[in-house]
Amino acid sequence: RKILVLNGPNLNLLGTREPDIYGYDTLDDIAARMEDVAARAHVEIDFRQSNHEGHLIDWLHEAQAEGMHAVILNAGAFTHTSIALLDAMKAIKVPVIEVHLSNPHTREEFRHKSYIGMGAKGTIAGFGPMSYMLALEAALDL
Ligand code: DQA
Repeated sequence: RKILVLNGPNLNLLGTREPDIYGYDTLDDIAARMEDVAARAHVEIDFRQSNHEGHLIDWLHEAQAEGMHAVILNAGAFTHTSIALLDAMKAIKVPVIEVHLSNPHTREEFRHKSYIGMGAKGTIAGFGPMSYMLALEAALDL
């Protein structure tokens, strides 16, 4: 079984980007923690990041074509803008779990709306890197 973990725009800067909000862990740190847990469950993690909306869409299609078990998606700011990402999530049968490091509902009004949430199996937000670990636990249980 393979679980695809997709990270959207600006998440490559994790560790130095607004650490008061996002913490000091890098994306590589998060990937390593996930791979550790997944290996013990004999599951493969495919961990990716892109600043480009189209790449994320192509990768969602790929998850379907390759018969992946689940997708864990932190779409970054595309969460609040992208109908195209939502449509891609709805176009595939692979369950997608939406994650956020921060809790968007405690932040600016424009972060309160998630377009992609409508296409998600469920959403985990507000627990920092632990959001990803909780999403992994949920994905393993699907
Ligand atoms: C984020 C929340 C989004 O509002 C923001 O644009 C991000 C990161 C999070 O993980 O908390 O880039 O998805």
